Amino acid sequence: MRSAPPSDFVTALPKCELHVHLEGTLEASMAEMLAERHRLTGPGAKGAGVGGARPEAFDGLADFLARYYAAMAGLLTEEDFYELTAAYLATARRQGVVYAEMFFDPQAHLARGVPFPSVVRGIRRAQEEARSAGGPASQLIMCFLRDEPAEDAHAVLEQSLAFKDWILGVGLDSDERGNPPAKFAEVFERARAAGYRLTMHCDPRQEASLDHLWQCLDLVGVERIDHGVECLADGRLVEELERRRLGLTVCPLSNQRLYGDLMGGAVREMLERNLLVTVNSDDPAYFGGYVADNYRALQEDAGLTRAELVRLARNGFEAAWLPPARRAAYLQAVDAHAAGAPSRAYRT
Ligand code: ADE
Ligand code: ZN
Repeated sequence: MRSAPPSDFVTALPKCELHVHLEGTLEASMAEMLAERHRLTGPGAKGAGVGGARPEAFDGLADFLARYYAAMAGLLTEEDFYELTAAYLATARRQGVVYAEMFFDPQAHLARGVPFPSVVRGIRRAQEEARSAGGPASQLIMCFLRDEPAEDAHAVLEQSLAFKDWILGVGLDSDERGNPPAKFAEVFERARAAGYRLTMHCDPRQEASLDHLWQCLDLVGVERIDHGVECLADGRLVEELERRRLGLTVCPLSNQRLYGDLMGGAVREMLERNLLVTVNSDDPAYFGGYVADNYRALQEDAGLTRAELVRLARNGFEAAWLPPARRAAYLQAVDAHAAGAPSRAYRT
């Protein structure tokens, strides 16, 4: 019989996080504090409207996104972005995250009049402070909003170039319906030429999931896919993902809150089919848990063994965009924990 590993094994297991939206770490309490700070009276205001509401479950991606964008109303200054990021990194540290690649959505802030430099300077300061205080180390991935025109993505890419050293890669998020990867093939090509790493969301349960997954591979040439669980329906796609050793950033609690299914069985199947599946939190302030919570929920749903949890943690570091020596050091720390002799082989 499969018995549950103790939860402190999961917390202390060195983990990375490859799929977390910084704006999705905005807890209701911080949204309220920001609304007071900026004397907001609209939807982001204290206790009012969609900005503050955090239901137990959402009616799919579009329902979630409407609340997610409304709640951002209070994120206005460099200091706000600093506090948001510092809070996430502190929580991630308590959950055993030693390295994070974090998404942010600059277009959602530009639309509210927040300048690009305010966003990235605030985030960067929190990253540097966390790193010098013992971790986690972190990197940034800038997402384009796929439900906005491709020209807007080109414009924000242009703005980002002044901060190129602070941004590791680009991603694609927001509402997937009617917004295929092909719409952004050109801007992703420009981003690649500028030296950015490439990933894209392929959310679960989308109308054209398989088509979008193939476009990511054949048209865009992404280096990772966010979510991607629908690949299991296409044997050839699974073979191709395995051949390329392409990381898939699955988010169990997100799946549960958005689609009523944690999809633990799918994660188990992905492991069995030798895919580079990883565990992540997506929008933890909305979906009821950070990374260790996602590992625990998955463990419960799919009855994973300790060895399988360790394999998922290793997959995270394999799929991360890390220099080889750092990757090796993190993997060594995971193996040491699994062997019952924790050691901190990596430097923050
Ligand atoms: N933006 C924030 N969270 C997202 C998700 N799960 N899917 C698409 N876009 C998002
Ligand atoms: Zn996401």
